Amino acid sequence: MRIIKVKNYDEMSLNAARIICGHIALKPNCVLGLATGSTPIGTYANLVKWYKEGGVDFSETRTVNLDEYFGISPDNENSYSYFMYNHLLNHVNIKAENINIPNGMSHDTETECERYDRVLDQLGSIDLQLLGIGHNGHVGFNEPSDIFVKKTHAIELSKSTIKANSRLFNHIDEVPTRAFTMGMQSIMKSKEILLIASGQDKADIMYEALCGPITPQVPASALQLHQNVIVIGDEAALSKF
Ligand code: PGA
Repeated sequence: MRIIKVKNYDEMSLNAARIICGHIALKPNCVLGLATGSTPIGTYANLVKWYKEGGVDFSETRTVNLDEYFGISPDNENSYSYFMYNHLLNHVNIKAENINIPNGMSHDTETECERYDRVLDQLGSIDLQLLGIGHNGHVGFNEPSDIFVKKTHAIELSKSTIKANSRLFNHIDEVPTRAFTMGMQSIMKSKEILLIASGQDKADIMYEALCGPITPQVPASALQLHQNVIVIGDEAALSKF
């Protein structure tokens, strides 16, 4: 595991975007695993800027997103699909058929989970998986649990996740209580993982996840077992390192 401590959010975003661009330059049809949340917004802004300047070409790139809320349509601005199009996908030359996001509107959860796992199988390994981390150590929406769930699954969101994500909704009651998420095995099968974190509020969980015991109660702790993880955190998020 390589841990890179940078000054602030902007430097984290710049370094993360550089790594993603490097992957696309070396392998134009690479499979990028994408994350949502506040943390990657700056990373995506850099990618959009460099695309507009001619510095990166997404025409062959394939993407697969980690997760999606249950029961929210892609045109709802709180959906992760909306987030991805708004922050990245609408602004670069990626082909629509190369974009993969779980369908939050599917009410047949089993069928949707199987469909998404087939998509992942067909894509082969993810070349680079971008990850944020929740305050409870979740990655994607793999919440603390007694076991690491391997495959795509529908999950009940924890109270702390609902509370954290309520900042983006008008009212906490509007936050979906369920979501689809890629499983830990799919994440861990990625050839490279890039974990980004910013802010003092992530300091405790970053230390616990990367230096504490490996346990499904802290899903991100599984990353300690991966051969090729790069962590980019700002001084605040990595203040315990
Ligand atoms: P955040 O979310 O980037 O908004 O902090 C990270 C996560 O919950 O995975």
